[in-house]
Amino acid sequence: MTYEAVYKRSVTDRDAFWREQAERIEWAHPFDQVCDHSQPPFARWFGGGKTNLCHNAVDRHVPHRPDQPALIHVSTETGQERTISYGQLFVEVQRMAALLVNMGVGKGDRVLIYMPMIPEAVIAMLATVRLGAIHSVVFGGFASHSLATRIDDAKPTVVVTADAGSRGGKVIAYKPLLDEALNMCQHQVAHVLLVDRGLAPATMRAPRDIDYLATRREVLDAIVPCEWVASEHPSYTLYTSGTTGKPKGVQRDTGGYAVALATSMAHIYGGQAGDTFMCTSDIGWVVGHSYIVYGPLLAGMTTIIYEGLPIRPDAAIWWSLVEKYQVNVMFSAPTAIRVLKKQDPHCLKRHDLSSLKHLFLAGEPLDEPTARWIGEAIGKPIIDNYWQTETGWPILSVARGVDPQAQAKLGSPGVPMPGYKVKLVDDLTGAELAEPHQKGVLAIEGPLPPGCMQTVWGDDTRFVQTYWSSFAGQQLYNTFDWGIRDEDGYYFILGRTDDVINVAGHRLGTREIEEAVSSHPDVAEVAVVGVADPIKGQVARAFVVVRDGSRAADDTSCKELEAEIMQTVDQQLGAVARPARVHFVNMLPKTRSGKLLRRAIQAVCEGRSTGDLTTIEDPSALAQLQEAFLH
Ligand code: PRX
Repeated sequence: MTYEAVYKRSVTDRDAFWREQAERIEWAHPFDQVCDHSQPPFARWFGGGKTNLCHNAVDRHVPHRPDQPALIHVSTETGQERTISYGQLFVEVQRMAALLVNMGVGKGDRVLIYMPMIPEAVIAMLATVRLGAIHSVVFGGFASHSLATRIDDAKPTVVVTADAGSRGGKVIAYKPLLDEALNMCQHQVAHVLLVDRGLAPATMRAPRDIDYLATRREVLDAIVPCEWVASEHPSYTLYTSGTTGKPKGVQRDTGGYAVALATSMAHIYGGQAGDTFMCTSDIGWVVGHSYIVYGPLLAGMTTIIYEGLPIRPDAAIWWSLVEKYQVNVMFSAPTAIRVLKKQDPHCLKRHDLSSLKHLFLAGEPLDEPTARWIGEAIGKPIIDNYWQTETGWPILSVARGVDPQAQAKLGSPGVPMPGYKVKLVDDLTGAELAEPHQKGVLAIEGPLPPGCMQTVWGDDTRFVQTYWSSFAGQQLYNTFDWGIRDEDGYYFILGRTDDVINVAGHRLGTREIEEAVSSHPDVAEVAVVGVADPIKGQVARAFVVVRDGSRAADDTSCKELEAEIMQTVDQQLGAVARPARVHFVNMLPKTRSGKLLRRAIQAVCEGRSTGDLTTIEDPSALAQLQEAFLH
């Protein structure tokens, strides 16, 4: 079948298409309705059906492939490698589930997971959904304030954590950050389960804190059956940044997500049971949820959990793993490839990559030179894919699993994937832009396909207002990305329409960073913008007006204050959100009505024209900002 035929069927005969795809997973009770869209924009997939994500990711494979590795953990930080077969995973997940039950976790309760890239993190996710509980993984790079906000929103019964993670040889203690967050937040968690890796001392507070390794010994024979849940029962929430300072908990269902991931594995990634998948993201991001954990396991594949940098001990490390573990499908981010590009090119030639079918890249725009360079260096097809935390799986890509001849175009993430009714619309009128090469907002006609977000956790109104209210009178989901489409139907993504920035593939809200910077007592006002960067795609730059001029009077005091502000961001949000530079100015460019001219600031930093500035209050503000930026 051609891509066109499969895509067309997915949108014109939607229910029949998804009914077939739903056979890729096992149901404890069959569904009686494929899609209930009677209360738009909410969509309920596979209503009446009962299933379990852990059953589909683990239990169902045990009779067929008990000895096949399910997880291969490689840490170049600790020098450890560990393989866990499907049979062993089945046992470990039940042990973890038993511990969670003993700590009071039941169906619908939340389990917050704040962990480095170790197998126990994946085991905790699987154990949570096994019980019909809901996990909320918080990226290990986030610090106490971010963690506290998420704890207060998710209200977990239990937090699963580790003593520490490690990055580039530097140990990052997690437990003190968690303790600080737990002191800061309103919500009281019943228990903290700590996986002690022996990397950093962890103060344990009894009876709240429980040691995983010690208590695991008491439940070695645990048998904890899967809780069959309704298809629409939430499996997880994952926080993501938007325009406001308050992150949104993207809520995902169970049945729709399982079907969508299994379909994407077959149609897009071309992964088969028994194959090995290596995704270099982190479980704290959506790519990690979908393609380190659930996607590969649902398909009966082996998944590699990698803790470490792409260039340590050297830039051959990933390719050595491809050879050693016979990786078939690899998934990474453009930033990582740009980092590799700066290293010794022989590193890419040292290993036998014959097992590898293709390399997928996502998370940020993939520039043509980078795509061309890596394609030539490894001699494999490079496939871009565009999606969001909200959608959970690709919106745009090329479906080589449907049509092996499908061709990628350099610079384009591709064409709409089955199930997505993608449109380009005028940002003001919402009118569809049907002609090629017109720039518009990328929107998706409702209902969104299975696997996409159900709502914002605990806030249906925010879900509707944020995503579905941009274009009056239309059921259109706003991606907040600009795009164009060429005459062959390939899309090109031109950046965000809102204040979200993308630093090394990490999605951050400038509002959140501004709030963290503002919490420094000497900061009167701040603007944070994303500025183009050759390696990271974008970096954050902060422009600060100080309360007391003497704190930014000369180079030395500016340097001191800059370091303090960066430290404040590190402590509140984590180093991942730290601005690359903090510049000091006397005023920020604003409109006469007091609105910050963020786009103009960004344009100045990127050396572009600022466009129409007739509404600016004081034009000298921009000139001053430019001087500060260049200084
Ligand atoms: O702006 C788009 C950009 O990243 C945003 C979503 O980020 P996140 O929620 O972290 O999900 C990442 C899932 C891969 C999008 O709104 N983005 C993501 N992929 C691409 C991209 N921009 C251009 N090309 C891509 N392939």
